[in-house]
Amino acid sequence: MRLRRPAAVAAVSLFVAAGLAACGVSTTSVTEPEFTNELAVPPLADSHVEDGVRTFDLSAQEGRSEFAGQDGSTRTWGFDGDFLGPTLRADRGEEIAVDVDNALPEATSVHWHGMHLPAEMDGGPHQMIEPGQTWTPHWQIDQAAATLWYHPHPHGQTEDHVYRGLAGMFIVEDDASRKAELPHEYGVDDLPLIVQDKSFDGDGELELTHDGAEPGMLGDTVMVNGTIGGVQKVTTEKVRLRLLNGSTARTYAFEFPDRPMTLIAGDGGFLDEPAQVDRLRLAPGERAEVVVDFSPGEIVRMRSAEVDLGGVAVPSTMGGSDSFDVVEFRAADDLAASPEPAWSPSRQAEEDAMDEADAVKTRKFELSEREINGERMDMSRIDEVVHVGDTEVWEVRSSQPIPHSFHVHDVQFEVLDIDGEAPPVPMSGRKDTIYLEPNRVYRLLMRFEDYTDPHLPYMYHCHMLLHEDEGMMGQFVVIDPGQEDEVGVAVGHEH
Ligand code: C2O
Ligand code: CU
Ligand code: CU
Repeated sequence: MRLRRPAAVAAVSLFVAAGLAACGVSTTSVTEPEFTNELAVPPLADSHVEDGVRTFDLSAQEGRSEFAGQDGSTRTWGFDGDFLGPTLRADRGEEIAVDVDNALPEATSVHWHGMHLPAEMDGGPHQMIEPGQTWTPHWQIDQAAATLWYHPHPHGQTEDHVYRGLAGMFIVEDDASRKAELPHEYGVDDLPLIVQDKSFDGDGELELTHDGAEPGMLGDTVMVNGTIGGVQKVTTEKVRLRLLNGSTARTYAFEFPDRPMTLIAGDGGFLDEPAQVDRLRLAPGERAEVVVDFSPGEIVRMRSAEVDLGGVAVPSTMGGSDSFDVVEFRAADDLAASPEPAWSPSRQAEEDAMDEADAVKTRKFELSEREINGERMDMSRIDEVVHVGDTEVWEVRSSQPIPHSFHVHDVQFEVLDIDGEAPPVPMSGRKDTIYLEPNRVYRLLMRFEDYTDPHLPYMYHCHMLLHEDEGMMGQFVVIDPGQEDEVGVAVGHEH
């Protein structure tokens, strides 16, 4: 059964709109910090190779962090440190493993967002790691070069665990990215930017409150890689920014005041060609890579402008009206030359390609209340059963004036069209997460290439983490034709 309450929703948005007009709220609710702090850059994770397997170590742990503007230190969580985690990097074709140990006082999981891998390695809510335990997923990297990320996924607590600081980047390289004419020196002209908003209570501790606000908590303090008011030194003419919206609910519209950015990649890898964009909307969970030009000696800030969250239907109180500076760049007086962004298709480009004509099935997903197709997430229910090797079209629609970002595990999809029209450039490459403007139909093309398991599902869900935690999530399994009878969640596999 589908629950729809159009009357109630309309009433709510009218009320919000009226309230806004009445008090004339137009200013941003994000505090502008002083840009005086050296931007933290997550270190590259160490790994060791043995018997052809590259193994990383990650430890989820408690810590204390110093944040600008707070007296004393703040309790945070991090991987191998106090806050956030190191950047993992591996090549297509490599066998990798990660020893993830949980040094936290409660169970968590670590999900490889955007990664194509077996369901039992996915790190979703079925792969919980108890305190004191180590989980060692392993898989072969088999997808195009891309900026992916990792974060906990414990059902009902993802928002809390990510908000406390558990998140990191995972960079996949391939022959195309290795040979590309692009800035590629990590931390110098190839910069990870993990953008998050937070709030602090009177004691300087992280505060997570919703009070029924949609689409979740919008923090009044924005940080990049854990630095509030971050400043990055620029030493090259061009810098590649790997932008990750690691926020729980806030959608950004990144821009520079006086220059376009060259968009080179979306969630799942390079676009067909570089594209100039003035502004880039990124919803929670989404990534993009841009290359930005700098002039010698200049100081310039990247900001987040007012965001179009899908027309007048979405109240601007949901984060749309905020605009604020995000990070400052200070260019040296002499800048080293950088190449004009260019790349060639990877060796596997042809085998990666998908064709709508191959689609054997269309599935529809409607997001409403905290439900997908009228149901809230149930760990013991498999919602969709997919045959391995199949290409499918997923038709996704949000039917309420609330922001949602839709994410599918295991695959990188292509946005075929939005209400029948070609997607805008930032949605033209492979994606695993997209912002859903209300009442529009997004048709997504995806192929479930390998890894069957009738008992362990992958997830699809809203990546606004309050929504996810409250049940806006479903589960699909990938099986061999003929395994239908076996489909069901095996409770014994839970740990
Ligand atoms: Cu980034 Cu299912 O999540
Ligand atoms: Cu994911
Ligand atoms: Cu949502």
